Amino acid sequence: MSSSLFRTKNVEQSIRDTEEPEHALKKSLSALDLTVFGVGVIIGTGIFVLTGQVAKNNAGPAVALAFVASGVVCALAALCYAEFASTVPVAGSAYTFSYASLGELPAWIIGWDLVLEFALGTAVVAVGWSGYIRSLLDNAGWHLPEYLSGRDGAHGFGFDILAALLVLVLTAILVLGMKLSARITSLVVAIKVAVVLIVIIAGAFFVRGDNYRPFIPPAQPVPAGASLKAPLVQLMFGWAPANFGVMGIFTAASVVFFAFIGFDIVATAAEETRNPQRDVPRGILGSLFICTVLYVAVSIVVTGMQNYTQLSVDAPLADAFKAIGHPWYAGVISFGAAIGLTTVCLILLLGQTRVFFAMSRDGLLPRFFSRVHPRFRTPHRPTILLGVIIAIVAGFTSLSELAELVNIGTLFAFVVVAISVIILRRTRPDLPRAFRTPWVPFVPILSVCATLWLMLNLPAETWLRFAIWMVIGFVVYFLYGRSHSRLARPEQPEPEPAPPMS
Ligand code: ALA
Repeated sequence: MSSSLFRTKNVEQSIRDTEEPEHALKKSLSALDLTVFGVGVIIGTGIFVLTGQVAKNNAGPAVALAFVASGVVCALAALCYAEFASTVPVAGSAYTFSYASLGELPAWIIGWDLVLEFALGTAVVAVGWSGYIRSLLDNAGWHLPEYLSGRDGAHGFGFDILAALLVLVLTAILVLGMKLSARITSLVVAIKVAVVLIVIIAGAFFVRGDNYRPFIPPAQPVPAGASLKAPLVQLMFGWAPANFGVMGIFTAASVVFFAFIGFDIVATAAEETRNPQRDVPRGILGSLFICTVLYVAVSIVVTGMQNYTQLSVDAPLADAFKAIGHPWYAGVISFGAAIGLTTVCLILLLGQTRVFFAMSRDGLLPRFFSRVHPRFRTPHRPTILLGVIIAIVAGFTSLSELAELVNIGTLFAFVVVAISVIILRRTRPDLPRAFRTPWVPFVPILSVCATLWLMLNLPAETWLRFAIWMVIGFVVYFLYGRSHSRLARPEQPEPEPAPPMS
């Protein structure tokens, strides 16, 4: 039994699977597409919303250092992701990588983890988007009824109709094909980056040195009785839970990590890339670098414009301009943020349908979901199924409840990928690697330690929720995936392909 749990999928088999006509995705993306794709999903709710929250609650102006700490963790992970993506250019990201190196059960766990994390991430961003749109509608004098404005602040029934509609429209775009979504993405990414640059350049003229004192506010104890909300590391070592101070920077880093989620999703598009060996590492590292620089600059400017205690937690970038008497800038920023969050949703949705698709192709989820659409060449079935589920979750979800859960799941995937790099170097040293992680095993080990450190800085209750989530995954695997896995039944004939649409 234990050997079947750790059976690995041969790397050549993974690549061959992608060449079967009825399971083949269209290869149309270049390195530039991937970088745009990466920036498109990376810059989002993290910088537009969470910056203000963590500056106000956890780190003060030192939120810039939190972005640096989080960026370093991501860079280490990116070096590992890039090697794997260039060696195993198959849809499914960390799931595929771990299937080729660690075995089926770890791969299932990571795939299960990724599908749900991306799904929740999409829901979180859709809710954030809806908030910006509502604020713009309010400016224009249109007010949505409370019961259609989401759960936050609703008395009784509350369904976020805008968030749900956004997810459904994006689902339709994904079903119609990659090229269409990539084109829309490029335009929206340009608007989003322009807005971020406006914040940095225009905001720099309003920075006041006073606001940086103290740069790292002194530690403050958190109220007693909130122990499950305290970072696990503080509880583990019996420290009195505190905000701000040096530890506050790490708490902030574990939250703003959400702002970096997305560079790893570039790897999920490896199979749809024309030259994955060269272009995927470029896309991942390029988009990560651009975003880190922008985040640090934005957080320095915003905490310099307004004292951190005064920052808004809903729309901090726009509200900082309102606070200094420039509502016109605030309007432009809100508008750009709302447009920018659209691409984040789109790409998160894309990434997770691709993981689901890869798991289904391997038989761990029903094979029904891995038939690509005969005309659009997209995995339309998982896209539609997950799109509808996420639309419902987004409609009923409160933003703050889920962001930390998304982070822990993604960080967990980073740990698995870094370990996989080391294992695959030993088990398959012969594989061609267009990109090699430097100083193996030192860099992957450092990546594991740094990632675990961020995870430990997440609240204890997030760990608890994550554990429950994983237990459900085990149950599904043992009831379905293990016996239906394609590796369990290699002699089984392929099911009939779907009839072409005429
Ligand atoms: N990095 C993305 C965001 O901040 C998920 O919204």
